Amino acid sequence: MTQPWITLRSEETLTLSAPAVVVKDLWFAYREGEWILRGVDLQIPAGGFWAIMGPSGAGKTTLMRILAGLLPFSRGQVLLLGHPLRGKPEPALRRLIGYIPQQLGLVRGLTALENVLLGSLARHDGWRTALGFFPRAEIERAMALLEMLDLADRAHEKVFRLSGGERQRVAIARTLMQDPQLILADEFVSDLDLPRAAQVLALVHRLVRERGLSVILNLHELQLVQEFTDHVVILKEGRVVFESPAPDLTWPLFREIMEGEHEISSEITQELRR
Ligand SMILES: Nc1ncnc2c1ncn2[C@@H]1O[C@H](COP(=O)(O)OP(=O)(O)OP(=O)(O)O)[C@@H](O)[C@H]1O
Ligand SMILES: [Mg+2]
Repeated sequence: MTQPWITLRSEETLTLSAPAVVVKDLWFAYREGEWILRGVDLQIPAGGFWAIMGPSGAGKTTLMRILAGLLPFSRGQVLLLGHPLRGKPEPALRRLIGYIPQQLGLVRGLTALENVLLGSLARHDGWRTALGFFPRAEIERAMALLEMLDLADRAHEKVFRLSGGERQRVAIARTLMQDPQLILADEFVSDLDLPRAAQVLALVHRLVRERGLSVILNLHELQLVQEFTDHVVILKEGRVVFESPAPDLTWPLFREIMEGEHEISSEITQELRR
């Protein structure tokens, strides 16, 4: 990357070689005393493509929303791109984080192109953009992204007329338009069939490699995790119970972890990895 430093405040800089995400002893409860995350520790390197797996209710979405700065956490420490997250992230940091919620957050009544342009809003906070007037350069950039994602001919179609896979690609284009360093996506291929999900993930994988982005996805399909991601974390009942390079998570090991009652010991892990 040719952009080694990004200035946040005059006295603070962050480097792209800092880990994308550091989470230390993170605790979170929606209601007092009902812990949803219980001491989560993670260190995700810049340029990493990581998957978070785990049973329903494990806390995956909660963790993603905390990393996206949408939920204040109770205890622990979070560093995003080398910058400590305290409360709501400041705009300079927020701009570097692209969050794609499970429902994609697209405006159904706007066209694909208009939705992609919304990704650039943080750069233009004037009344013009609020009224839908975007600089020509941004429109050209949005079109180039749609083209790259094979959607040029759908640019002027309203989003509610697009297929699930097309919407997913519009959401990626909108996020790339924001120019993020870190993309957080909550199950954003879970509504697609396997071939279509693989196609979208292959595209994200390429972007990770070409642009040095860091990506964290919540995924359910082990096959997709093994094929496309570098590293996998399994959360259960708010704890990280497993973490390894993606190819090391075999089917028997995955089943054992998902079905087992307890955190599995490192000896069992070693055994099942063989
Ligand atoms: N807004 C909320 N208020 C109270 N409890 C919540 C809220 N959102 C989630 N929870 C609870 O927190 C726990 C973790 O939820 P979360 O959505 O993080 O799980 P998940 O791992 O993403 O599950 P899934 O795979 O089903 O999406 C669940 O028990 C859920 O009921
Ligand atoms: Mg979830």
